Amino acid sequence: MKKIMIKDMPNHIGETVKIGTWLANKRSSGKLAFLQLRDGSGFAQGVVVKEEVGEELFAVAKGMTQETSMYVIGEVKADERSSFGAELNVTGIEVISPAKDYPITPKEHGTEFLMDNRHLWLRSRKQHAIMKVRNEIIRATYEFFNENGFTKMDPPILTGSSPEGTSELFHTKYFDEDAFLSQSGQLYMEAAAMALGKVFSFGPTFRAEKSKTRRHLIEFWMIEPEMAFVEHDESLEVQEQYVSHIVQSVLKNCKLDLERLGRDTSKLENVKAPFPRISYDQAIEFLHEQGFDDIQWGDDFGAPHETAIANHYDKPVFITCYPIGIKPFYMQPHPERDDVVLCADLIAPEGYGEIIGGSERIYDYELMKSRLEEHNLSMDAYAWYLDLCKQGAVPHSGFGLGLERTVAWISGTEHIRESIPFPRLLNRLYP
Ligand code: 4AD
Ligand code: MG
Repeated sequence: MKKIMIKDMPNHIGETVKIGTWLANKRSSGKLAFLQLRDGSGFAQGVVVKEEVGEELFAVAKGMTQETSMYVIGEVKADERSSFGAELNVTGIEVISPAKDYPITPKEHGTEFLMDNRHLWLRSRKQHAIMKVRNEIIRATYEFFNENGFTKMDPPILTGSSPEGTSELFHTKYFDEDAFLSQSGQLYMEAAAMALGKVFSFGPTFRAEKSKTRRHLIEFWMIEPEMAFVEHDESLEVQEQYVSHIVQSVLKNCKLDLERLGRDTSKLENVKAPFPRISYDQAIEFLHEQGFDDIQWGDDFGAPHETAIANHYDKPVFITCYPIGIKPFYMQPHPERDDVVLCADLIAPEGYGEIIGGSERIYDYELMKSRLEEHNLSMDAYAWYLDLCKQGAVPHSGFGLGLERTVAWISGTEHIRESIPFPRLLNRLYP
């Protein structure tokens, strides 16, 4: 007998098959038991008919607890009501291990309770769908960059530098030295771009930020492309192409998952390059027109400001050329103004906030040296980075896309904590 996965059931109509499953839920009457089965690849209904299977097996089916693991044997039947067109007429059950007092029942549970049981919560339909969307974004990321001439390079996680400011670092001992967990692989990716031209990384990054918002994780995954001979405007074009590609890939390949999540896909269909661009100056002006008196030129945007700007558009929007004072040391100054830099943040629609931060990078040696000094960064730790400016430096640009914020936006998940398998939050290291 063939062992198959639930997702492949529609290809086995009429065949008797064996599937390794867990019992997600069940309902039964005196004659029939409906088993909601899941196997990781999908969810399907198994129907047990007492008259067909006999008293003994029917009693096993009726008595099984939620999340009991088993092999089920049965004939795959076409079924129009099922989301993917098949169900299983169960004729045999081999229980592997029963589950005891499974805590997450079909009733509503509080968030903290679910977070404490994250190791089990991942089995639920909604979490399954979010993880599928996450996986598709990762798959489409590799596809996009590989098709566009990028090479994947992996920056270190233990580092001696802090590209995004020194206040949000996780310190650790590195034998006799001090080290930090990487906030961003960018500086290493700049070195990599000088070796391989167009590169991208995908890895975990860490921010010891005491933020407790629906957009902040302590540990999150970032995709960081870096491109030699690419200037600011050209980088924005890559960004909008990339984001369009991942959104369109999810729409195409995660239909069932988006449906299960209740995602309004009409809001995603329109996400195709080009995206609108407004300058920081224009954004401030717009916010003042909208009655935001709390923000002045030179301030960074808060979530309500970003949301007000995003709500004005039906696609993600680039805010370009921020004041030099609120951005990191490495950003290239504007050629005609000394108060702003050549950078952009990409703000997602529907209030999901900034998903990309990027810029053109400084490559002039004297300017880089003075910027490092102004930011009180150690010339010893950054010697290798400064050295890049002396060895055939070229204009180059790059950006970082936060995976979890992107997952939250595309899947329509309110809080970022559900967009990563095991979130690290301000007050949570368990499980
Ligand atoms: O804007 P950020 O800090 O930019 C950088 O780290 C650059 N070095 C990237 C680069 O140019 N190579 O972070 C980039 C993105 C943000 O736009 C956001 O999507 C995400 O990373 N991000 C976070 N996501 C979740 N939790 C946090 N605490 C995040 N901080 C940043
Ligand atoms: Mg940023």
